[in-house]
Amino acid sequence: KPRIFSGIQPSADSLHIGNYIGAIQQWKGMQDDFDAIFCIVDLHAITVPQDPKGLREATRTLAVQYIAAGIDPERSTMFVQSQVPGHAQLAWVLNSITGFGEASRMTQFKDKSARQGADAASVGLFTYPILMAADILLYDTELVPVGDDQKQHVELARDLAQRFNSRFGDTFVVPKPRIQQETARIYDLQTPTGKMSKSAATDAGIVWMLDEPTAVAKKIRSAVTDTGREVRFDRGEKPGVSNLLAILSAMRGTTIESLEAEYEGRGYGDFKRDVADAVVAEFAPIRERTIELQADPAEVDRILARSAERANELATAKIATVHERVGLYPSL
Ligand code: TYM
Repeated sequence: KPRIFSGIQPSADSLHIGNYIGAIQQWKGMQDDFDAIFCIVDLHAITVPQDPKGLREATRTLAVQYIAAGIDPERSTMFVQSQVPGHAQLAWVLNSITGFGEASRMTQFKDKSARQGADAASVGLFTYPILMAADILLYDTELVPVGDDQKQHVELARDLAQRFNSRFGDTFVVPKPRIQQETARIYDLQTPTGKMSKSAATDAGIVWMLDEPTAVAKKIRSAVTDTGREVRFDRGEKPGVSNLLAILSAMRGTTIESLEAEYEGRGYGDFKRDVADAVVAEFAPIRERTIELQADPAEVDRILARSAERANELATAKIATVHERVGLYPSL
């Protein structure tokens, strides 16, 4: 089976609906046809200031949410990045074949460092996309299912794979991103021209998977739309309505056109209520399962350790090859 790899940072207490639709929902549907590896990328999470206890808890909670949302640890490998040393090892080698200018062009770094102030941003944040390339290349990944915001990073991974292969001989599979169409980017409910993001200033625009159902419904009913009354997909003129259409189409697995037809001649009130109902119907059981699974942290850690063992076998073999190719001393 072709290999897929993807990951999410444990940088908040809950996933949001953008992570769910952009990433997890895609992953769920790929578990049978692919050899799937899903990572909880805690090494990435420390590139910005973190609270140690909070990070450890967020890491386990994220693992629990993977399972609750439908990632099956029997079929898929799901593990914590820092438990497999190969990620950091390969990142170091890839750092050494990445140009400074090339890394400087990563738009997410520019955005994030601008928010923190360029001098406050860590070097880790700067090389973060290279660690991500290491994650992907370590496992001979063919497809990387992600949201639209990770596209540039996957392209860097492609470039680095090709560069390494041409300098040192065929070593890495050149990966491709797998990005959905209309649902590749979910926008903030209060500022529907900006991406929904864990670091948004206000909470009202973000639907967290672990929000109480009443809070989910309220946030969706209060989503910013426009003064018109047509439920029509038009990102330029109607960003708020378009975002809700994308969300509803992901929840129901239907096309946006069929939703436009369904809501023709009906107002925003009806439409928003249905979006809220659909999201609550999807998230309420996930939330309940998350709470159940959280009661047994030792079991979660056992599941993660089992997967990390498999990942580590793959990673160790790859690192040995890489070290050999670049002329480092043989792995012991
Ligand atoms: P992260 O943790 O920011 O986001 C996790 C996943 O959620 C997607 N996503 C969205 N999709 C649609 N709309 C949104 N508003 C939205 N916000 C986030 C992201 O595209 C991503 O798929 N660098 C990565 C983590 C990573 C990774 C990897 C991913 C590290 N190594 C290797 C793939 C392969 C990140 O910070 O994602």
